[in-house]
Amino acid sequence: METNKILGAIILALLLAAVFSKVADMAIHPEFPDELAYKIEVPEGGVTTSISEDVDIFAVLPDITPMLASASVENGEKIFKKCASCHTHVKGGENKTGPAMWGIVNREKGSAEGFAYSGALAAFGGDWNVEELNKFLLKPKKYIAGTKMNYNGIKKDQDRADLIKWLSSLSN
Ligand code: HEC
Repeated sequence: METNKILGAIILALLLAAVFSKVADMAIHPEFPDELAYKIEVPEGGVTTSISEDVDIFAVLPDITPMLASASVENGEKIFKKCASCHTHVKGGENKTGPAMWGIVNREKGSAEGFAYSGALAAFGGDWNVEELNKFLLKPKKYIAGTKMNYNGIKKDQDRADLIKWLSSLSN
């Protein structure tokens, strides 16, 4: 009787060991088919990744207002260095290549005293609220086709938020 129990235990242990080693083997050497299941067709001339001109880049912009709360005025001031060759930011500052920026946020578009705006900007209408600034500064020439502001725009959402927050500080 005792011998049977011992034998039984040994057989069970061997069986378990065999099962474990098979499982471990499968985990370490999973089998993959030699060929990919799906062939990816590459068109002649290669794949071109292009943002379609039809996509409205302004419609898909994230809402700027919530971003302003945590935006960095310090970084905004740094970014304005890219604008400073054409725009003054001080109170009573003069127009340079571009109109003076003092009080720009919520100012009527095209309203800096004595600045000769392009017909496109003069006719665009509305105020420079934060949403409008966000769109214009993303791609000036795309937002206001025909503007004479010769600047490519700022791609990073956070950078525009920082800059716009700093621009809002340019007022009484
Ligand atoms: C190369 C010169 C140049 C640079 C650099 C430039 N701007 Fe301008 N900006 C202009 C000109 C010129 C206009 C007038 C555009 C028009 O009349 O179409 C303008 C117009 C504007 C307006 C509209 C002002 C109004 O009174 O309606 C805003 C806002 C503005 N710029 C912000 C910026 C900011 C912010 C930057 C930096 C990220 C910047 N610009 C960089 C030349 C420049």
